[in-house]
Amino acid sequence: MPKSGNDTLLSTNELMIGGVSTSFLAEKYGTPLIVYDESTIRKQIHDYKQAFREVQADFRLAYACKAFCTAYMCQIAQEEGLWLDVVSAGELFTALSTGFSPKQILMHGNNKTKDELELAITSQIGLIVVDNFHEIELLGELLNQAGQSIDILLRVSPGVDVHTHDFISTGQQDSKFGFDLYSGQVEEAVVAVKKHPRMRLMGLHAHIGSQIFDAEGFAVAAKRMADLSKKLEREYDVLTHILNLGGGLGIRYTEEDTPMPLETLVEEVVLAARKAYESDGMSLPLIMLEPGRSIVAEAGTTIYRVGSRKEIPGLRTYIAVDGGMTDNPRLALYGAKYEAVIANRMNEKQKELVSIAGKACESGDMLIWDIELQKAKPGDLLAVFCTGAYNYSMASNYNRIPRPAVVFVKEGKSRLVLRRETYEDLLSLETNDDFS
Ligand code: LLP
Repeated sequence: MPKSGNDTLLSTNELMIGGVSTSFLAEKYGTPLIVYDESTIRKQIHDYKQAFREVQADFRLAYACKAFCTAYMCQIAQEEGLWLDVVSAGELFTALSTGFSPKQILMHGNNKTKDELELAITSQIGLIVVDNFHEIELLGELLNQAGQSIDILLRVSPGVDVHTHDFISTGQQDSKFGFDLYSGQVEEAVVAVKKHPRMRLMGLHAHIGSQIFDAEGFAVAAKRMADLSKKLEREYDVLTHILNLGGGLGIRYTEEDTPMPLETLVEEVVLAARKAYESDGMSLPLIMLEPGRSIVAEAGTTIYRVGSRKEIPGLRTYIAVDGGMTDNPRLALYGAKYEAVIANRMNEKQKELVSIAGKACESGDMLIWDIELQKAKPGDLLAVFCTGAYNYSMASNYNRIPRPAVVFVKEGKSRLVLRRETYEDLLSLETNDDFS
């Protein structure tokens, strides 16, 4: 089980989250249900901010809302004074609909469409992280048409190969994101941007990947960005005021994961960046981080109802639940591992080795391989921990399974944030149009 926050208690025999019992939540909202402990989210944000203050860095913290994006989550980010990192018009629209200050939004994307850039420009968002040459031209044109200016960062592919899953490591040279550092593309991009006076180049961005456990890769990226900044200053008369080192701090899904505490990570990253810039005769620019997973993953727990069981003598016992890859595709995609408990019989000592299967028509629809669990009976509640990041946001309707509901809990109270999808919802996009 992951480290429990103050509000996650084992009361008698039952798992409590944010002071609310899981069986109460399952009864009230149905299953599968994703439950967020709000105070855990706010604590993570607080710890990030505190860590920056400790190292006396000028900083900006953005929440990468791709990890979990709803109006209420954007509202929490706004209340906590965060910026918001959006990667699509859908995320931007969600944020704006809550009244999120556009000045505190930055937009990413390796293929932002004309519509997306237009929405970013008309909403006057704070920063666009420009990713490629096509975008420079398109954005330049749209800014001219709108008669507006915008602050930008250049996304640099820093050539840092971090040890994480291939699909979530993005800083290596062979990546679809950003300008390649080693073939002169960044310099070429600077020249191209200079032709568009409506783009104000504020600095550089380098994201090295996700689920990263230490500061080493960030330090290498910071050094490369410092050297690049020096070159840009000397040869192109460009001053970089902002260094955005992306997101990526990992979390503890199981005991195999040993991420650095976020306070230590922030400290080491800032100290390494400061050293890099100072050794190049510059002062530390404003440091920006845009974490997603480390803000919301540990706050989320998914509650499933146990159903069928299949025992293959001498081989394996499968326990099936009422969700699966449709609400959590991370095992199927990345081989992700999770810890879980039978939430309504927490203290039961006797355990058995089982594997947890989902209900979709696909053998790969597994949630957990080989876990020691209290003996599960049909109707029991299974709680899978650390499902707050990239679960609901990557959920699907495969097999026309409706997406689960999401609730937030706090101080013994719960609040529905996303209602469960209905079968009518599944039909709601269909039309009866004739061919024409
Ligand atoms: N900034 C940029 C430019 C990113 O690409 C990402 C994540 C983040 C920030 C936030 O990274 P975080 O702090 O959450 O690690 N679906 C995968 C994760 C994909 C991450 C994509 N980019 C998963 O479920 O593990």
